[in-house]
Amino acid sequence: MGLKILGIETSCDETAAGVVEDGRLLNSNVISSQVELHSVYGGVVPEVASRQHVRDIVPVVEKAVADCGMALDEVDVVAVTHGPGLGGSLITGLNTAKAISYSLGVPLMGVNHLEGHIYAAWLTEHNPGEDPGFPLLCLVASGGHTDLLLMEGHGTYKLLGRTRDDAAGEAFDKAARILGLGFPGGPEIQRVAEGADGEERLPRAWMRDTLDFSFSGLKTALLHLAQAKGVYPPGSKDLEKQELARLVREMAAAFQESVVDVISAKLVDAAKRYHAKGLVLGGGVTANTRLRQEIIKRSPLPVIIPPPILCTDNGAMIAACAYYQYQRGQQYGLELDIDPGLSLG
Ligand code: KG4
Ligand code: ZN
Repeated sequence: MGLKILGIETSCDETAAGVVEDGRLLNSNVISSQVELHSVYGGVVPEVASRQHVRDIVPVVEKAVADCGMALDEVDVVAVTHGPGLGGSLITGLNTAKAISYSLGVPLMGVNHLEGHIYAAWLTEHNPGEDPGFPLLCLVASGGHTDLLLMEGHGTYKLLGRTRDDAAGEAFDKAARILGLGFPGGPEIQRVAEGADGEERLPRAWMRDTLDFSFSGLKTALLHLAQAKGVYPPGSKDLEKQELARLVREMAAAFQESVVDVISAKLVDAAKRYHAKGLVLGGGVTANTRLRQEIIKRSPLPVIIPPPILCTDNGAMIAACAYYQYQRGQQYGLELDIDPGLSLG
C-alpha cells in the first residue's frame, strides 16, 4: 500500500481536505465552500471565514478520511497550507493538522498554497500521456496571485513575472461587481459571456516585454464603459431588461477576452524564452473555459490542466505537494506557524 497523505486547506473561504496516495492517486477530495455566506457581502469577509472554518474543519476531515474507507489512524502524513492566505483562516487548518500529527505521531508537512495549486497537475487525468519533464512553465492565477514561474524540478521555482496590481481573479471579481453580477465573479463572467457577439473590445496591458501583468487599467476601462452605457451605477439609465442583459454579456465577454489574450500570450512567450518542456496551469482562474481553450490552442507544448474542481482551492493538491517534499526529506515541527504573506520563487 502506498503512502497516504491527508491534505488540509483553509487559506481563504474553502474548508477542504483530501487524501492522496503516493503523491498522485486521488483517494478523496472534500470541499466545503463558504460562497453563499460571503456572497451577500460581495466578497470574502475574513472574520466570517475564520469562524466558518472552525465549524467545518472536523466534519470535512472526517469525511475526507471516511470517503476512502480509511480510519484516521491509517493516515501516514498530515499536510497543511501554512500560507499565503488569511491569517485567521490559516490558523484553523494549521492547528487541526498539528493536533492530528501530534495525536497519531505522524509527520506534519507545511505547504505553500501556491505550490499546492501547481501540484494539482500531478493529480490530473488530463496529463498528456508521458511526463513532459522539467523545466515546466507554471501559471498560478487565483484570487490573490497571478504568477508565472519556471519549475526547474520538484520544489525548485524561479518567479518570472507577476501582477503589479490586481490579481486576475480579483479583477474578475471586481468586473463582475461593476456589471451587477454575483460573487465569485469569475464563473459569473464566464457564464454570461457565453454567446456574446464580440462587438465590444477593451484594452490589454502588455507591460512592454516583461512577463508581468497589470489588470487594474482594464478594470477602470470596463468601469468607464459601463458608466457610458448606463450599466453602472445600476439604474442610472432606463434600460430595457433585454438591452441591459445584452450590454452586460458583451462587456463581460470583452473583459474576459482581454484577460485571456494577455495571459495566454505571456505564458506561451515565457515558455519559449525559458525553453520549457510543458505548461502547468493552476488556481481558480485556470478553471476558466476560454482561458483553457486559448492556451491549448496557442501552445506548441503539452499543457497540463487540472479539472476545474482541482483548479480552485482543495486539500488534495496540498497532499500531492507534500508527498514530494516528504520524499526530499523536508521536515516540519509543531512550532510551524502560519505565514500569510508567503511567496513562491
Ligand atoms: O484559487 P482560488 O480558488 O482561491 C484563491 O487562492 O484565491 O481562486 C479564486 C478566484 C476567484 O477570484 C474566482 O473569481 C476565480 O478564481 N475563478 C474564476 C473561475 N472560477 C474561479 N475566474 C475565471 N473563470 C472561472 N471559471
Ligand atoms: Zn487558491
